[in-house]
Amino acid sequence: MNYKNILIFLSVLISVVLSQPSDLYLYTTTPQGYWKITRINISTGTITNSTTSLIANNYIFTQFLEVNSDGDLVFLGLSEGKTAYCTYSITAVGNYVNTSQSTKVLKTGSFSMFDSSIVYDNARNSVYFAADLLTREIIFVYDFETPSSYMVKLSVPVNMSPTGAFDGQDTYYLLESLNDEISNFTLYSYNFETKTESKPLNLINFPKNSTTFLFYANDHLYAATYNNSAPDQLALVYIDVTTGDCITTYTFYETGMPYSINYWTYSNYFVLMTQTDGKYFLTTLNLNDNTYTTTQIYGNFPQYPILSALIY
Ligand SMILES: *[C@@H]1O[C@H](CO)[C@@H](O)[C@H](O)[C@H]1NC(C)=O
Ligand SMILES: *[C@@H]1O[C@H](CO)[C@@H](O)[C@H](O)[C@H]1NC(C)=O
Ligand SMILES: *[C@@H]1O[C@H](CO)[C@@H](O)[C@H](O)[C@H]1NC(C)=O
Ligand SMILES: *[C@@H]1O[C@H](CO)[C@@H](O)[C@H](O)[C@H]1NC(C)=O
Ligand SMILES: *[C@@H]1O[C@H](CO)[C@@H](O)[C@H](O)[C@H]1NC(C)=O
Ligand SMILES: *[C@@H]1O[C@H](CO)[C@@H](O)[C@H](O)[C@H]1NC(C)=O
Repeated sequence: MNYKNILIFLSVLISVVLSQPSDLYLYTTTPQGYWKITRINISTGTITNSTTSLIANNYIFTQFLEVNSDGDLVFLGLSEGKTAYCTYSITAVGNYVNTSQSTKVLKTGSFSMFDSSIVYDNARNSVYFAADLLTREIIFVYDFETPSSYMVKLSVPVNMSPTGAFDGQDTYYLLESLNDEISNFTLYSYNFETKTESKPLNLINFPKNSTTFLFYANDHLYAATYNNSAPDQLALVYIDVTTGDCITTYTFYETGMPYSINYWTYSNYFVLMTQTDGKYFLTTLNLNDNTYTTTQIYGNFPQYPILSALIY
C-alpha cells in the first residue's frame, strides 16, 4: 500500500466511524444578560433550554468555531472593550473552561464579508475569513498562537462579497463571480503552508444567477447555492478543485426559507432547517449517498439566535 492509498483508506475508515450529529445548539441571551442555550435533539426534535452562568457582556461570542478534542465548544470571542479577539472554550452545558491569548482587532476601514466564511484552523490555532477591501480581496488572519493579527492581500478583484471555506489542512478557498450577470464563477485559493496564491480556476457547470456560500465537508469543497429566480430552492454543488468541474449533487426544492444560512455541516452530514406552514423541520442529509432523515421540531425556539452550532 503506498502513502496515498493509506491516506484514502484512513479517510474511508474515519467517515465510517463518525456518526450523525446529535444536537443543534442555538445561543441567545436572557433578559438578565446571561448566555442561554437552546438544544434541539436532531433525532427527536425535542427542545431543552438551559441558562449558563456566563454573563454575555464579559463573554462576547461572535462565532462558533469547533468542538475540540475534550468535547468542549470553542468560540471566537471579543474582549471587553471589543478591541481584541480571543477564543473561549466552554463545556456543552455552558461552563467556562479557558480563554486563548488575545490579538488585536484589525481596523481597516469598511469591508464586507459573510459570517459563513469564518473558519478555524485547529493546527495553526488561527481564524481566517475572506473580505472585500477597496479593490482587492483579502483574508483576515487572527493567530492566537503567536499571537498576531494580519491580512493576506490577494490579487482577486472585487465584484460581489467573497464567500470562503477552509479545507482543514492548508488551503482557504474563495469564490467570486466576475461579471454582473453572476454567471461566470471563478475559484481562488491561498495556501497557508506555502504562503502562495493559486491560479484562478474557472468553474464549469456552476449554477448561474445564484447566491452562493462555500463550505468544506466530507473532505470536499461544496457550494450551497440559492437560485436567484427561485430563492426558496437550495442546490448543493460539488466543486472539483483540480478541474473546476461542478456537479449539483442534491436540490432542496422548497426550503420555505429563502436565502437562509440555517444549515450546518459535520463530516459527511449536511443539516438544513426548513419551514412549511409555520412548522419547522431539520433534515440531515448524508452527502455520500443523499439518504436523509427529516425531523419536525416540537416547541418554540429562538428564530434569530446570535449563534448556532452542531454537536455530535
Ligand atoms: C436525543 O434523543 C434520543 C432519542 O430519545 C436519545 O437517545 C438521545 O440520548 C438524545 N440526545 C441527547 C443529547 O439527549
Ligand atoms: C483550552 O482551549 C484550547 C482551545 O483554544 C483547547 O484546545 C484546550 O484543550 C482547552 N482546555 C484546557 C483545559 O486547556
Ligand atoms: C470568466 O472568468 C474568467 C476568469 O476566471 C475569465 O478569464 C473569462 O474571460 C470570463 N468569461 C466570461 C465569458 O466573462
Ligand atoms: C432557477 O429557477 C428558475 C425558475 O424556477 C428555473 O427556470 C431555473 O432552471 C433554475 N435554475 C437552476 C440552475 O436550477
Ligand atoms: C437573476 O434572477 C433575478 C431574479 O429572478 C432576475 O431579476 C435577474 O434578471 C436575473 N439575472 C440574470 C442575469 O438572469
Ligand atoms: C425554550 O425557550 C423558548 C424561548 O426562547 C420558549 O419559547 C420555549 O417554550 C422554551 N422551551 C422549553 C421546553 O422550555
